[in-house]
Amino acid sequence: MTNLHKPHLDLAFEYWKGWLKPTDTVIDATCGNGKDTLRLASLVPQGRVLALDIQEDALKNARKIASLDNVSFFLQSHVSFPVSSPVKLIVYNLGYLPFGDKSITTLSTTTLQSLEAALIWGEAISITCYPGHSEGLIEKNAIFAFLQSLNREEWKVSIHEWKETSPCLVWIERR
Ligand SMILES: C[S@@+](CC[C@H](N)C(=O)[O-])C[C@H]1O[C@@H](n2cnc3c(N)ncnc32)[C@H](O)[C@@H]1O
Repeated sequence: MTNLHKPHLDLAFEYWKGWLKPTDTVIDATCGNGKDTLRLASLVPQGRVLALDIQEDALKNARKIASLDNVSFFLQSHVSFPVSSPVKLIVYNLGYLPFGDKSITTLSTTTLQSLEAALIWGEAISITCYPGHSEGLIEKNAIFAFLQSLNREEWKVSIHEWKETSPCLVWIERR
């Protein structure tokens, strides 16, 4: 067994750890309850995490665990980013808020809009998606079609997937 044989969120963390330096700026595009924000903040102690979510309740929970000097929260959609220069990494943990309103979930249309913006502002993009629910499967298929459209001279892509409906991890890195 290799040490890369891990649950998708732990594997995502391994990618982040290998990619980030302590002074980097990162966007958490789906802050939710803040667990990913907290993990990201630990990797960029002298940098910055910009954490976005459309739900005030989510940000309220996130502030409880991740109100750190290097974290800023934004109540806004990830269709645009609050930046004026490129960031090292943009992270998506798609779907609905754990223990929250399942009807408020990321949607393929806005996720694709956001990914177009991420190609402009991000040096790398990490996406975990959940095709076990119906919108999640639509979203995953849309993301996989989007990956096919990427210029391979410009981007490297890795996909970790088991079954069609299992959680999966996509890592996109600028060459
Ligand atoms: C799976 S949860 C994220 C989990 C989170 N990273 C954590 O560690 O707890 C997905 C989040 O995406 C948020 N979301 C949905 N659509 C969004 C959008 N257009 N822009 C930003 N966040 C969005 C939801 O409100 C939800 O909190």
